[in-house]
Amino acid sequence: MRFFIDTADVDAIRELNELGMADGVTTNPSLIMKSGRDIREVTKEICDMIDGPVSAETIAPDSDGMIAEGRELAAIADNIAIKVPLTWDGLKACKVLSGEGRMVNVTLCFSANQALLAAKTGATFISPFIGRLDDLNLDGMELIADIRQIYDNYGFDTQILAASIRTVNHMTEAARIGADVATAPPGVIKKMAEHVLTDKGLAAFMRDWETTGQTIL
Ligand code: G3P
Repeated sequence: MRFFIDTADVDAIRELNELGMADGVTTNPSLIMKSGRDIREVTKEICDMIDGPVSAETIAPDSDGMIAEGRELAAIADNIAIKVPLTWDGLKACKVLSGEGRMVNVTLCFSANQALLAAKTGATFISPFIGRLDDLNLDGMELIADIRQIYDNYGFDTQILAASIRTVNHMTEAARIGADVATAPPGVIKKMAEHVLTDKGLAAFMRDWETTGQTIL
C-alpha cells in the first residue's frame, strides 16, 4: 500500500519523504487554509519535493469551472492530480480532464455507487472518506472493501485512495483489504511506529545495560 501524506505542511512532508514514506501528497481547501499559505506557492513547493502525485482541489461548483481550475492547477507541475468532488458536475469534469491525460482524484466519496461512477468517468483515484462515515456510526472500512470487490470484479484501473484516515487501525484495515493507497495525516503515520511493549522492552534493555557498565562507542 502506498502512503500519501494528507497535509499541506511542508516540514511534515519533508520529514516523511526523507524516510521514503511519502509516495504522494493530498491537499484540500481546508488543509490549504490550515497551512496559511498561497495555494500555488505551497503546492509548487510540495510538487518539487515529492516524486509522486500531489492532489490539488478545485473549488468551482460547476463542471466548466472545475475543468478551468483543474487545468490551471495542473500547470503548477507535472505530478499534480486534480481533485474534483463526487458530484454530477465533478464526474463531468473528471471525464474531460482524464480524457486530456491528466491525473484526476475524485474526492468526497461515501458510497460504492459513487465509486463505480468515478471509475466509469476515468478517475485515476477514488477517495472514500473512512473517518467521516465512522463519525456517523457507519462502517467506513466496509465501503473500502465493497469498492475493492467491485473494481476487481470488472478490472477497473481506478486506484482506491483510502482517505479521512484518523487512526492507526484505519491504516491496518485499509492495507488488509487492499486499498491501493492510504492518505493519512503525518501524526497517524508516526503513531504507527508506537507500541507499549516496544517502550517497555526498551526500558528493560536499558536498565540491564546500565548494570553492565559497558559502552558501545
Ligand atoms: O483526505 C481527506 C481528509 O483530509 C479529510 O479528513 O479527518 O477531515 O475527515 P477528515
